[in-house]
Amino acid sequence: MITLALSKGRIFDETLPLLAAAGIEVLEDPDKSRKLILPTNQPGVRVVLVRATDVPTYVEYGGADMGVTGKDTLIEHGGQGLYQPLDLKIAACRMSVAVRADFDYASAVRQGSRLKVATKYTTIAREFFASKGVHVDLIKLYGSMELAPLTGLADAIVDLVSTGNTLKANHLVEVERIMDISSRLVVNQAALKLKQAAIRPIINAFSQAIERNAVPS
Ligand code: PRP
Repeated sequence: MITLALSKGRIFDETLPLLAAAGIEVLEDPDKSRKLILPTNQPGVRVVLVRATDVPTYVEYGGADMGVTGKDTLIEHGGQGLYQPLDLKIAACRMSVAVRADFDYASAVRQGSRLKVATKYTTIAREFFASKGVHVDLIKLYGSMELAPLTGLADAIVDLVSTGNTLKANHLVEVERIMDISSRLVVNQAALKLKQAAIRPIINAFSQAIERNAVPS
């Protein structure tokens, strides 16, 4: 049995076409069922639904053989014990620094001010500001980061930006793009050896589907 860990939402939705390319069809809709283990049309393949941040952990310890997870989540997890064969180019967005529109970020940085930065992504934020030589006090949050500059909790946030609508709705502006983010396929290293025959064809089918979808440059 091959167990694939996915998180509900964009990653689940955008992984479905890749699974289809591998001949795998998930037989239940996670939005209509409370089930956490979803069968597929392949008796040897099942999908487990886990929190996005738990996908690398499930795959690292073998609770799942494979998973799909954002580059952001993977960096925060550390990626230990995970084989990362593919950038799936799905769930694309970016990791950015944002501040209140009336906060002069450029001056604060130029003057060497110490910035209070609220984020769920402390590893990415720490490395980014260290590379710029900016001193920061990091405040760990688990969601609704946009609220932090509005309430005076922080000067800036480090968060994912996709359309930019959430920032706009909260009167925040993007002042730095830290990195592009997309989702990766991760595979348990032991499973890759022991279940080669089942896992390799899935990796290959995903890979071919990504190439077909690639916009020629
Ligand atoms: C992410 C991110 C922003 C939003 C950005 O949250 O934290 O809040 O999406 O998207 P936009 O630029 O298109 O408005 P998500 O919905 O993934 O939920 P989360 O807060 O639980 O991370």
